[in-house]
Amino acid sequence: MSLYNTVLVTGASAGFGYAIAELLATNGYKVVACARRAEKLKALAAKSSNIYPFELDVTDEKSVESILSKLPAEFQKIDVLVNNAGLALSQDKAFDCKVDEWKTMVNTNINGLLYMTHALLPQMVKRNHGYIINIGSTAGCWPYTGGNVYGGTKAFVEQFSRNLRTDLKETAVKVTVLKPGLCGNTEFSNVRFHGDSAKAESVYTDTRSIGPEDIANTVLWLLSTPAHMNVNDMEIMPVCQTYGGLAVTRKLNLNEI
Ligand SMILES: NC(=O)c1ccc[n+]([C@@H]2O[C@H](COP(=O)([O-])OP(=O)(O)OC[C@H]3O[C@@H](n4cnc5c(N)ncnc54)[C@H](OP(=O)(O)O)[C@@H]3O)[C@@H](O)[C@H]2O)c1
Repeated sequence: MSLYNTVLVTGASAGFGYAIAELLATNGYKVVACARRAEKLKALAAKSSNIYPFELDVTDEKSVESILSKLPAEFQKIDVLVNNAGLALSQDKAFDCKVDEWKTMVNTNINGLLYMTHALLPQMVKRNHGYIINIGSTAGCWPYTGGNVYGGTKAFVEQFSRNLRTDLKETAVKVTVLKPGLCGNTEFSNVRFHGDSAKAESVYTDTRSIGPEDIANTVLWLLSTPAHMNVNDMEIMPVCQTYGGLAVTRKLNLNEI
């Protein structure tokens, strides 16, 4: 028995979001599945009458702010928000990056998540009932070359989640930041490398990465935890991935006077 009935998942047209929406619907939750690609959402919704597809760009502040009024009555009482929509663009070093790509990451991973939270949190607080699951990333904790702004946005997601829970301390509303590591079988690397599928596939060569189903199962479990228990923070890596230690450059030219 879950405490929750209705879940809104952003980024439900692919990857984690798709798997989360599908698994939750199979387990009896009503799911509002949001993303920009309506045809993908339609195909997802064809799998279960528990899924309501909703075309939404999370960076469009006005559309997000009015979302509740646009949903059918039976999907309006959102108990759970899974802030999953997000992306990385390029893995170039900061001095080679395009500022527009930085802006897109900030607008989606930070501003989009904030707009969604701002739109849905007040009704949770009013009902003293709700759960926000924010999808962060190990990139927000552990730096890697070319992770610059992507990692920065995910560090924001982590700290915002902690601050949010602090603001909610006198309520029963829960917050978790769920931080996956290397995860295959999503569009993530294809998006990051602008459709260069050979480059995207090379990220996962000879690895046994985690898959969207692992993240979906984790979300299903989080929703089954008892009312008195809040999982603040969860970091999940495949066994084939771990910390890399600090880098030292030898014989570095310091250009000293
Ligand atoms: N895969 C990994 O290795 C990994 C690891 C750690 C964290 N993550 C994080 O997990 C989340 C999901 O990633 P994924 O691997 O499932 O990637 P994915 O397969 O590329 O899916 C991303 C989803 O986000 C949606 N999206 C992107 N921009 C959007 C916007 N402006 N408005 C609404 N939806 C938008 C996409 O849908 P549309 O294009 O249809 O809008 C898509 O459904 C992201 O936040 C990502 O940063 C991924």
